[in-house]
Amino acid sequence: MLKTYCQSTPLELPVAESGAPSLPEILSALSFALDLTEGAVPGHALRSCLLGMRLGMELGFSPIALADLYHALLLKDVGCSSNAARMCQILGGGDDRVVKSGVKLEDWTRPDRPKLSTLRLLWNNVSPDENPMRRLGRILQIGLTQHGNNEEMIQLRCDRGASIVRKIGMSEQTALAVRSLDEHWDGSGYPQRLKGSAISPLARVMAVAQNLDVFSVEQGAVQTMLVLRQRSGRWFDPEVVKAAESLHKRSALWRQRSPNGVQASTDPAKAVRAAVIALSPQENNRLSASHMDLICEAFAEVVDAKSHFTFRHSMGVTKAARNIGRAMGLKPERMELLNRAALLHDLGKLRVPNSILDKPGKLDDAQWSVMREHPGLTRTILSRVKQFQEVAEVAGAHHEKLDGTGYPKGLTAGRLSLEARILGVADIYGALTEGRPYRSGFSPAEALKIMERDVPGKLDTDCFAALSSIAEAGEETAPSPELLRVVPPGRCPTILAPAPLKPITLSS
Ligand SMILES: [Fe+2]
Ligand SMILES: [Fe+2]
Repeated sequence: MLKTYCQSTPLELPVAESGAPSLPEILSALSFALDLTEGAVPGHALRSCLLGMRLGMELGFSPIALADLYHALLLKDVGCSSNAARMCQILGGGDDRVVKSGVKLEDWTRPDRPKLSTLRLLWNNVSPDENPMRRLGRILQIGLTQHGNNEEMIQLRCDRGASIVRKIGMSEQTALAVRSLDEHWDGSGYPQRLKGSAISPLARVMAVAQNLDVFSVEQGAVQTMLVLRQRSGRWFDPEVVKAAESLHKRSALWRQRSPNGVQASTDPAKAVRAAVIALSPQENNRLSASHMDLICEAFAEVVDAKSHFTFRHSMGVTKAARNIGRAMGLKPERMELLNRAALLHDLGKLRVPNSILDKPGKLDDAQWSVMREHPGLTRTILSRVKQFQEVAEVAGAHHEKLDGTGYPKGLTAGRLSLEARILGVADIYGALTEGRPYRSGFSPAEALKIMERDVPGKLDTDCFAALSSIAEAGEETAPSPELLRVVPPGRCPTILAPAPLKPITLSS
């Protein structure tokens, strides 16, 4: 049996009202947003969770270790947005999502033995706007600086991931597992080059589980098991590989039903999600409103970390929306809805490559069409949570305009709720007062002047008037300390700002 632990601080989730979503319901839905950032096939985190839990049970993990493993598997990629901008910079403006997903199929621990597929991946995605000689030069530089870059990227991702896990009240073992996801059994991994049993047992299982999913989706089960054997003892813990082999031989690894018998439906994504929820270690534990808000804040920070130009955007928009809502006398339950919709409104932006988000110029038509998809994706992700149907509608409508010229649906005034109108106004104000790759941020007075042209045609008159009086009164739009609060007290440090981008050392 893989040595884990059987005593840990159990999760102390506050008591919730009935009708609230459970932790697995919300995390399993939001995990689709993390898949977007990684360029993964949708449902990757959920499938990895199922596979990892089967491995954990096969290895005889204690119930407490299984609970920690469950949360760590769902949140394993929660730090992934923090290195996207740096990745794009290293690639010379290439698509970070394509490379992130492609690299998962490569053995990046052996830069001295580059495979043709690795070179092809780089050739197709490095410095796309440069001539072939410069692209070749940058690819060579990437090869030469690979270890340093890997270390930096993985450190960023793992540290931030662990911070977020702590912030939303998960156990220290869960945070440690997320931090150690990319350590390798032989000590060649990152960020700490931990070796063998020094690596969190949960992380050792997670490393195998995520590779099982990535390879099986792309190359089938037989090839996947071959890769596992090749990497056993080097990348993966041999004992975890042995458990996977045993489950594979008994046809118990890949089956599309949960270990406790949830049948697959015709929709594979739904079936996997149902199976994951059924495996929940605290199935009856409904989230309290404050814990729910905290999870929304954590995911807002995941979105904001994607680009240093939008750093604090979701938090700033939320502050502005709350101020407008309060000034307009919204009832507490509508304020709660507005708060969550504002925090999560740009969730779909996790799918937009940083080559678009950070472009120092105007977007072309193709790039705009990618950008315009993000509110619809936000709506799709949030609508997976039964209790979030209205949050999904409000968040998904933040780029709609009263005259129907907005996107993605071109909704008109009659179909835009007051909360959607408030969020639309707060979002534009937030965007105008922040810097962008092609301009610096406008002052509040300048931003209001620009927005005034769209009142009453596109923007709601009352919402704009409320915003104007708040801005004139000198209220800050920066996030308030309450948006950075932490539970349980003392256990979860405030999430750090993303590290500023270092100038790249490659010759260009
Ligand atoms: Fe947006
Ligand atoms: Fe936004």
